[in-house]
Amino acid sequence: MSSRFEDKVALVTGGASGIGEAVALQLAREGAKVVVADMDLSGAERVVHAIEQARGTAAAFELNVADPIEVDALVSFAVRTYGALHLAVNNAGIGGPSAQTADYPLDGWQKVIDVNLNSVFFCTKYEIAAMLQAGGGAIVNMASILGSVGFANASAYVAAKHGVLGLTKVAAIEYAAKGIRINAVGPGFIDTPLLSKNLDAATLGAIAAMHPIGRLGRSEEVAALTCFLLSDEASFITGSYHLVDGGYVAP
Ligand code: NAI
Repeated sequence: MSSRFEDKVALVTGGASGIGEAVALQLAREGAKVVVADMDLSGAERVVHAIEQARGTAAAFELNVADPIEVDALVSFAVRTYGALHLAVNNAGIGGPSAQTADYPLDGWQKVIDVNLNSVFFCTKYEIAAMLQAGGGAIVNMASILGSVGFANASAYVAAKHGVLGLTKVAAIEYAAKGIRINAVGPGFIDTPLLSKNLDAATLGAIAAMHPIGRLGRSEEVAALTCFLLSDEASFITGSYHLVDGGYVAP
């Protein structure tokens, strides 16, 4: 087991599936103690079991990231369980309704903003407080290519992810001198349940073809970038947005 995150305590929201699961597994493989946080408790427990089978250390925590009280409780749980919080990946997210802006349902808009944007503010807010106590830390907010470009029929998702970039920049400026680095990752379309549950095979094929590399991304490819940004190798990187998108945004 490599030790890039030895003696570090990490939390990953949305850690029960897809990108969050891959990040949690890699962090644990590299020595971190990981809190796997998700509204899907049995999924989080499955990931914890996989980590423990590989001789890592992890604990599951059930929450709705859109509730600030539950997010505060998550951060307290990490500190109480493992003594501190050094690393966080604010990754839980949903796709939301597909509709043009004039037809976009009001409740769908609110839900996507709550889960994909407000939650990242709540997480960042409480994580920073704990990281200041720990003497520093690193946060990655999971944005999307849709944090920097538009996509028809996804106004709430695109607005939320653009918002995540703004929040990331502001918090990074505020806490850079206090030893906390905060960055955003922008994945292209990644082969996870978020896509496979919502899109048919023909649509997935068409989306894959929008990436110059000619395929969807893999969760492990996003995890590799995320873990780099969390590591000391990224010690001069903060307040910035890092794509892992098979060339999607390049044309
Ligand atoms: P996924 O659906 O595989 O996993 C998302 C996880 O978040 C699930 O375990 C789910 O239970 C959890 N979750 C959802 N709402 C929650 C809530 N309110 N409270 C707590 N947990 C909640 O999705 P995937 O693809 O792994 O997405 C992870 C992140 O990556 C999301 O923020 C998504 O927007 C972003 N992303 C995904 C892309 C993709 O193509 N799959 C592309 C770009 C960004």
